Amino acid sequence: MSKLAVLGYGVVGSGVVELFYKNKESILKKANKDADIKYILDIRDFPDSPYKEKFTKDINDILNDDEVTIVAECMGGATFAYDFVKSCLLKGKSVSTSNKELVAAKGAELLAIAKEKGCNFFFEASVGGAIPIIRPLHKCLAANDITQIVGILNGTTNFILGKMINENMNFDDALKMAQELGYAEKDPTADVEGHDACRKICILSSLVFGKHVYPENVYTKGITKVSLEDVTLAGKFGASVKLIASVKKLSDGRILPSVMPTLVPYDNLISRVDDVFNAVMVFGDGIDRAMFYGRGAGMLPTASAVLGDVIEQLKTEGKTDTAQTWQDSADASFIADHKENECRMYFRVSGSENFNIENIEIIDNSSDIAFVTEKMTVAKAEELADSMEKSGVQVKAMMPVLEV
Ligand code: HSE
Repeated sequence: MSKLAVLGYGVVGSGVVELFYKNKESILKKANKDADIKYILDIRDFPDSPYKEKFTKDINDILNDDEVTIVAECMGGATFAYDFVKSCLLKGKSVSTSNKELVAAKGAELLAIAKEKGCNFFFEASVGGAIPIIRPLHKCLAANDITQIVGILNGTTNFILGKMINENMNFDDALKMAQELGYAEKDPTADVEGHDACRKICILSSLVFGKHVYPENVYTKGITKVSLEDVTLAGKFGASVKLIASVKKLSDGRILPSVMPTLVPYDNLISRVDDVFNAVMVFGDGIDRAMFYGRGAGMLPTASAVLGDVIEQLKTEGKTDTAQTWQDSADASFIADHKENECRMYFRVSGSENFNIENIEIIDNSSDIAFVTEKMTVAKAEELADSMEKSGVQVKAMMPVLEV
C-alpha cells in the first residue's frame, strides 16, 4: 500500500484530505493501487479532527518514513515549503504541489532533482485551480508549436473586477468581499498587484518554451489603479476590463510575457469569464485555439487538481515524467521587453484645447476624453502619453486592448 503525506492543513490541504476520503474508493480504483494518507503536517493542533492521529509537527517523521512515497504540498510560500519539498524529492518521494510561488521561483531546480532521484514533481494545481492546463499543455497539445497563451489566471482580481463591472462596487468593498469569501490570499497584495498571475504565467511559459521564466523578468501591473470610471468607459467601447496574463512567441524566437489590466472586447470569450473563474486560451499551429475554463481558486477545486496529480503519481510510481520539465536559465535575453508588444491602446485623459490626436476612436468626451488608438507598440503609446503630458493634457489611465 502506498502511503501519502499532506503538508499544510489550510484551505487546500484540508480540501485534499476531505476529497481523498470522500472519493477514496473511486480514486484508488482509478489509480489501480491501494493508498492511504499517513501524515498531515501542520504546526497547529486539530484535537477535534477525525484525522487527529495523522497529524505531526515534524517534517522528519515524513522524511524518515520510507513507507511515504508521495507528498502533497499545500503550505504555500517559498521558504519552508521549498526546504521541505526539496528534502522530500532528495529522498526520492514524489511531490504534488499547489504552490505557484514555489514552482515559479524554484521549478527548474526541483524538476532537476526529481529527475535525478527518479521521482516526480507535479504542479497541476499551481495554475488555474481546478482547470487542467499543465498536463494538457505538455501532453495533449504536445504536437503543436504553441505561439501564444492568454488567460485570466487570478480568481480574486477577476471577482473584484466583476463586482466593479456588474455591480458598480468600488475596489475596496469588492476586495473585502473577496477576502470574506476566502478567495483572496492572506495578504491580498500578491493578487491585486498581479504577482500571483505573474507566477502562473511564468509557470506556463517555462513549461511551453522550455526555459525557466522568472517573475522578476515579467512586466507586471495589477488592478489597484483600475477605476470605476475606466470600467464603465470600457463597457461603452464594448469591452470588459480583465487582468490578462499572456505570453507570445515572437518571430525571432524570443517570448513576450506580461500581466496587465486589459480591455477585452465582448466578442472574445475571455470577456465573459466572471466571478472567481479562470480561463486560459492556448494558440497552436495545429489547434488554432483551445480554451480551458473553470474555478481558479477555492478549497475543493484546487484539491481536485492536487489529487489528480497524486493519482498520476500512484499510477506511475517509480517513473519520472520527463516531458514535464524545463531548463534553468540565468540568461533572460530570450524574454522580450513588454514595450515591444503591439496593440491598440485605451487612454483616458483630461479634456484640453491642446488635445489633437489623429486616427483614434473616441469613446467619450463629456468630461475626460476616453479614446482607443490604432495599433502601435507600447513604447510608441508611452511616447504619445509623454507628449500629451508635455502639452498640458493629463493622462489618467492607459490600458492595452486585447486582440486575439
Ligand atoms: N489567490 C489566488 C486566486 C488563489 O485568487 O486566484 C488561487 O491561486
